[in-house]
Amino acid sequence: MKKIFIFALGFIVATAMAAGVDQRQVLPLSEMQRNHLLGEMRMLLTGTGAILEALAQDDRAAVARHARSLGVEMPHKMEGHIDKVLPEQFMLMGMALHQDFDRIAQDAESGKDTRHMLQQLSEALGRCAACHAIYQIGTTGQQSGKQGSQNVHGKHEAHSHTR
Ligand code: HEC
Repeated sequence: MKKIFIFALGFIVATAMAAGVDQRQVLPLSEMQRNHLLGEMRMLLTGTGAILEALAQDDRAAVARHARSLGVEMPHKMEGHIDKVLPEQFMLMGMALHQDFDRIAQDAESGKDTRHMLQQLSEALGRCAACHAIYQIGTTGQQSGKQGSQNVHGKHEAHSHTR
């Protein structure tokens, strides 16, 4: 039963790959780089949530603080670490996003109203969506057997039914 499931899963993944379901451009990253990039992504998501919360409470100081933390000085931002492996367009999109957050921080500090900042945040989220529509990660590292990105580990799962 389990074997059949694993085989079916491998088949589905392999078929999906053959059909080119996820045709987004692949960023060839090592496991570590992938982990690093996804870690930053989760910070972006958490930070965006914190900005929204602060906007809902009309707390400009908090809006500024959270937006600044996602700005160009964002600690551990991907551009500073794995810039050599990332395509230029990717870098530019990432940088534009960090600049958006700095602008939101600035405007919060200078007392702009909430609606204005909501509008900016919505534009920043458009950048998240635009980049996600173009890229996916493909790990180049060793087979770790972990639940890595299905895009690349699908092949290994297809093999596992022979065991
Ligand atoms: C410059 C490109 C780019 C921008 C801009 C970007 N992302 Fe991502 N993000 C990615 C890539 C690439 C992935 C991996 C997607 C994949 O492999 O399917 C990803 C994955 C994620 C994930 C999944 C994290 C995980 O642990 O699996 C989250 C959450 C995320 N992004 C949030 C955001 C948010 C929120 C923003 C905007 C505030 C954003 N991203 C902006 C490129 C970007």
